[in-house]
Amino acid sequence: MSKRPSISFAKFAAVESGTAILLVAAEGKTAAEAESVVGPALLSRIIDVSEFKGKLAASLSTIAPAGTELERLVLVGSGDPAKLKADDWLKIGGAALSKIGTAKNATVILALSGAEVSAENAADFALGMLLRAYTFDKYKTKKGKDEDEKEQKTAANITIQVADPHAAKKAFTNAEAVADGVVLARDLVNEPANILGPVEFAERVEELKKLDVKVEILTEKDMKKLGMGSLLGVAQGSARPARLAIMEWHGGKGKDKPIAFVGKGVTFDSGGVSIKPAAGMDEMKGDMGGAAAVTGLMHALASRKAKVNVVGIIGIVENMINGEAQRPGDIVTSMSGQTIEVLNTDAEGRLVLADALYYCNDRFKPKFMVNLATLTGAIMVALGVYRAGLFSNDDTLAGQLFDAGEGSGEKLWRMPLGDEYDKLIDTKNADMKNIGGRHGGAIIAAQFLQRFVGDTPWAHLDVAGTAMGSPATEYSQSWASGFGVRLLDRLVRDNFEG
Ligand code: BES
Ligand code: MN
Ligand code: ZN
Repeated sequence: MSKRPSISFAKFAAVESGTAILLVAAEGKTAAEAESVVGPALLSRIIDVSEFKGKLAASLSTIAPAGTELERLVLVGSGDPAKLKADDWLKIGGAALSKIGTAKNATVILALSGAEVSAENAADFALGMLLRAYTFDKYKTKKGKDEDEKEQKTAANITIQVADPHAAKKAFTNAEAVADGVVLARDLVNEPANILGPVEFAERVEELKKLDVKVEILTEKDMKKLGMGSLLGVAQGSARPARLAIMEWHGGKGKDKPIAFVGKGVTFDSGGVSIKPAAGMDEMKGDMGGAAAVTGLMHALASRKAKVNVVGIIGIVENMINGEAQRPGDIVTSMSGQTIEVLNTDAEGRLVLADALYYCNDRFKPKFMVNLATLTGAIMVALGVYRAGLFSNDDTLAGQLFDAGEGSGEKLWRMPLGDEYDKLIDTKNADMKNIGGRHGGAIIAAQFLQRFVGDTPWAHLDVAGTAMGSPATEYSQSWASGFGVRLLDRLVRDNFEG
């Protein structure tokens, strides 16, 4: 989709042509390797005259000084090198890429004054570049006509000079797998709902077979046999049939129980009969952000051959309003046997996940389950759009997830669960209803899910605020962020491999 740059690593050497990209630390400090590109005196003059302070991810592009064969010189700030986290390296990489413009060749001198740049840092920097380069422009038929949106004719060749190119390249192989997973998740979420319905989504999942992921797609007939009345009730108002996709990656020991990720895949959420207001309804093409993250994660784990057994399950439906649509007041029977009074057809994500979670637990007996869902508007009221809500019945899992969030920059914040909240979904007509009162909407939704996970360690990530409509950052200019892929790759890498 995007003009993805091609990235390679090399040892420090003279930069003879093209664009040179140099790091500048706080207070304008530069490394000897950077100074040698145009000489220390000239570099410090450029930094002084432009008052470039080296703030994290600040950047500046100038015409290269006379007397060199270079075209441009780009300065990128690192802030205080002692404080850099993985996420900061992504930001620096993203900022660097944003200044490359239409350059064909660019060389990055990845050296900091007074601090070492590890292979891991270099890989994160490169990952930031790849993620920044992403654009969703496949439906733009008139590309780059305007002066201010010049298109790259070919992908830029970027050479990153580091102390140990071999180690950096190795670390980058993993980072590239993660980048591919994030790009896949973003593509799925950005795709409009007329193009990507449940059947088409399932077809995209089947492509993971190429990476040796085992894929099974359940049809409505299969799901009916299993008794998934809760999921099917949501799908029944759409002309497009539902699917349940099951992905398995066996990278661990044969007998090891798998870990499991479950996603809400509502390819479009009109609200159903409890229809949503017109303004902003288009955004509900992204109501499969949880399922997209699970798919992207499976892609990432399989391409980097993660040493772990993983199951990914996504419930894919379209929430629409034809003559067969589910009505408020309908009572459905979930696969677990529990009955649900559907008082609001727009609280459909939990109905889909109820059967997906129960099925996952019942069939795979996983070590734990983490589900991701663009589940409630209420989570945005609580946390804004910079952290996803984390709900869990297990403090260890919650802690591991929280830490993976801080490490990756895809941050979480733990929210409460409890009997007081659970009672709010009791109803006299059935085992439960699918909405509670006016307050605590994100918690009520989580309580509903908890009724389908038994005693298995479980966490629910409400990504309604973070998966789509995302604010632009140094490494994401996309409406769909791909939130969850880097977070969960990190969770797996730090806790469950080898
Ligand atoms: N998909 C929505 C939640 C959502 C809203 C995601 C905005 C992203 C942006 C979900 O299905 C929904 O409609 N939730 C309702 C629940 C309510 C009816 C209890 C909501 O949040 O309003
Ligand atoms: Mn809804
Ligand atoms: Zn929804």
